[in-house]
Amino acid sequence: MVKIGSLTISPSLVNASCAWASDLSQLQTLFDSPYTGAVTTRTSTVNGFAEDESHTVAFASSSISSLNSYGYSPHKLAQYLVWIEVILSAAPIPTAKPFIISITASDADSLRVSVDAIQTLRAKFAQIGVEFNTSCPNIRGTTPPGYAPESLAPLLGVLAAAWRADESLTIGLKLPPYVHASQCVSLVNTLRTLSAAGRSPFAYIACTNTLGNSLLFAEQVTDPANGPEAGSAFAVPPALGGLAGDALHALALGNVYSFARLLEAETESGLRNVAIVGIGGVTSAEAAARMRRAGAAVVGCATLFGQEGVHAFKILSGE
Ligand SMILES: Cc1cc2nc3c(=O)[nH]c(=O)nc-3n(C[C@H](O)[C@H](O)[C@H](O)COP(=O)(O)O)c2cc1C
Repeated sequence: MVKIGSLTISPSLVNASCAWASDLSQLQTLFDSPYTGAVTTRTSTVNGFAEDESHTVAFASSSISSLNSYGYSPHKLAQYLVWIEVILSAAPIPTAKPFIISITASDADSLRVSVDAIQTLRAKFAQIGVEFNTSCPNIRGTTPPGYAPESLAPLLGVLAAAWRADESLTIGLKLPPYVHASQCVSLVNTLRTLSAAGRSPFAYIACTNTLGNSLLFAEQVTDPANGPEAGSAFAVPPALGGLAGDALHALALGNVYSFARLLEAETESGLRNVAIVGIGGVTSAEAAARMRRAGAAVVGCATLFGQEGVHAFKILSGE
């Protein structure tokens, strides 16, 4: 059992935000599993994302890895709020199992609108947190704000203000995989500027999202969405996508380890209380243990869940 902000996560195992946490029945299945300590929704936006056949996923044949070209959910945030209310209202016994609503926005105003809408539902169900996705690599023409401190800062300012108005709001940041120590230091520096009186508005960081700009050829995956018969050599239609699963594990462990060291050194800013959700190549109970050893308080997975269904969480629990 782990307490992050005002959320109790027990067991300390969650699904990472992903395409398999997209609709009501998928969310209900995750909620009903005794092996998930919280349910994270697919990232949504105020207006929904225009999904087409170029947005898809393929699984590698030689390891438990995936390459996906998805953007955000086609369903609007408002739809997720309705579904979560349906699930929590129908829970047979009152439950504290949290929903973590993954959202994103490219401007401060729509982020404010999103947080306000979530707060309205939180007045009814307190066990709801917000995860701000800074790191989808597949949005054409857009640098993920997690890689662009100048666009990240105003968005984090909106979230920090929301926390100051209501400190019971649990806010997490989904970060991209960083490939150099200076990127981790820079993120911690940004977070420090938002702490006040030794307290951080952000209860956790989730490391990591997929590694963008990655490529697999059609013959490297089990189910090419756009293989040679469709006239393409690539595993996913845009050729490039976000890499996840085993292929990402070492980098994700390195990010969790780096942030754990940096945060524990933050004695004045309150950042040392920021928890880490370790995500990336958690495809076995051993990999989950490695994430915890590197510094994660909670462990999450997407690729294994996509491959195995909700049974993935039983596998990760080691039972
Ligand atoms: C098909 C697919 C869709 C994803 N969609 C999202 C998303 O909507 N929001 C998000 O923050 N991360 C998303 N991710 C990234 C995952 O949350 C996770 O960070 C990444 O896949 C690494 O974990 P894994 O190795 O267990 O797959 C997605 C990953 C996959 C494979």
